[in-house]
Amino acid sequence: MSVQFPDGFLWGGSVAANQCEGAYQEDGKGWSTQDVAPQGIKGPVTEVPTEDNLKLTGIDFYHRYKEDIRLFAEMGFKVFRTSIAWSRIFPNGDETEPNEQGLQFYDDLFDELHKYGIEPLVTLSHYETPLHLSKQYDGWVNRKLVGFYERYARTVFTRYKDKVKYWLTFNEINSILEEPFMSGGIYTPKKELSKQDLYQAIHHEFVASALAVKMGHEINPEAKIGCMVLSMPTYPLTPNPDDVIAVMEAEHKNYFFADVHARGIYPGYMKRFFRENGIEIHMEPGDADILKHTVDFISFSYYVSLCETADSSKRAELEGNLFSGVANPYLKASEWGWQIDPQGLRYVMNMFHDRYQKPLFVVENGLGAVDKLVTGEDGLPTVEDDYRIQYLNDHLVQVGEAIEDGIEVMGYTSWGCIDLVSASTAQMSKRYGFIFVDRHDDGSGTLERYRKKSFHWYKDVIATNGQSLQRSN
Ligand code: BG6
Repeated sequence: MSVQFPDGFLWGGSVAANQCEGAYQEDGKGWSTQDVAPQGIKGPVTEVPTEDNLKLTGIDFYHRYKEDIRLFAEMGFKVFRTSIAWSRIFPNGDETEPNEQGLQFYDDLFDELHKYGIEPLVTLSHYETPLHLSKQYDGWVNRKLVGFYERYARTVFTRYKDKVKYWLTFNEINSILEEPFMSGGIYTPKKELSKQDLYQAIHHEFVASALAVKMGHEINPEAKIGCMVLSMPTYPLTPNPDDVIAVMEAEHKNYFFADVHARGIYPGYMKRFFRENGIEIHMEPGDADILKHTVDFISFSYYVSLCETADSSKRAELEGNLFSGVANPYLKASEWGWQIDPQGLRYVMNMFHDRYQKPLFVVENGLGAVDKLVTGEDGLPTVEDDYRIQYLNDHLVQVGEAIEDGIEVMGYTSWGCIDLVSASTAQMSKRYGFIFVDRHDDGSGTLERYRKKSFHWYKDVIATNGQSLQRSN
């Protein structure tokens, strides 16, 4: 039996401004938190941008987007997810007037997409708070960020009202738990950050996100605005009830974010957590009503699943995207140690569906791998990336299973559809793309683009609306 995807399914790819645009101070752009993190999310933060930071030049998407969009169109993309660099629009974040050149860049980008019938899906904040807001205000710990974000969101919702229908408020909003600087622009070092301030910052993001949903709908009633969470299906390491409860508690930490976005209230288990940890969330009058503006859909990234146990002797840490847990003995891992679990995708989609009954959008999924350029039959450079095809095929089959389970899925955008700079390690060599970019970890390379084998494979998947996907049995 073949895999059935609905008509109008939004096939496409996903990137983030800071990982591909480059041009980090062109046309009036201010610095962002990414510009001072040369070694990626977990690395040290520098005072000012340093030349070893590959993100400063990225893959030069800022100047080459026309060529890249032509390639996306050749694959048949229906949707392209990118983010707006907040510091292109408000260079410091706290100005009252936006930077026209920054706005014009995204106008041109969205026009180019529409030329090929590709819908933009736009993240308002993808790991790049304007650096000034981070240093001056300590990022989202400060309530003033709500107002700055509101102004920024209003500016872009209004400007792109007729060009952008699909919006996401914060990328992987739950990652602030692990990465307060990159995710929440919080300049206080993680070790010194109190739980009180962390959860207050999260509250500010919730309020800002709900205000964006409210405002976005007022400006364009047709707009579909979603939250975006890092999904992390967690399995008990053993059937010991202690392990099952450890899983429940680990999952609560993450579900909290989607729960507030989808239900508009703080869940009881978090009120208990706050009580037991001496945390008091300061709510301003009206906050509870603002939170009731819930999202239209749930979007998420999915790369890995993890195990949990209550037995601390077994908690040997496994690196899994930004979060860590216990390794699953049944799964293999990527070259970067991320465990590969296609069925986890169907599982997590069912969990989201059972919890919220809102449409889902898979906005990130893919395999970061080392690619080797070879000469193809046509004499052009290419990559024989069968490992990537296998990974994506197996995950898409599980999206098909989730659709069979009765879940409404709006679309699928594979992460890093064109090679870009890795978020966690700032490497070029961790490649996700269908399109190879000739750029390397030492910064060398021509920036030429080449089609990989997976490029042709994905084109076929889209052209057949998923019928060409292979079930393994
Ligand atoms: C997600 C982020 O965490 O994973 C992306 O939203 C990131 O920005 C992606 O690039 C893959 O992670 P990495 O570290 O391999 O780039």
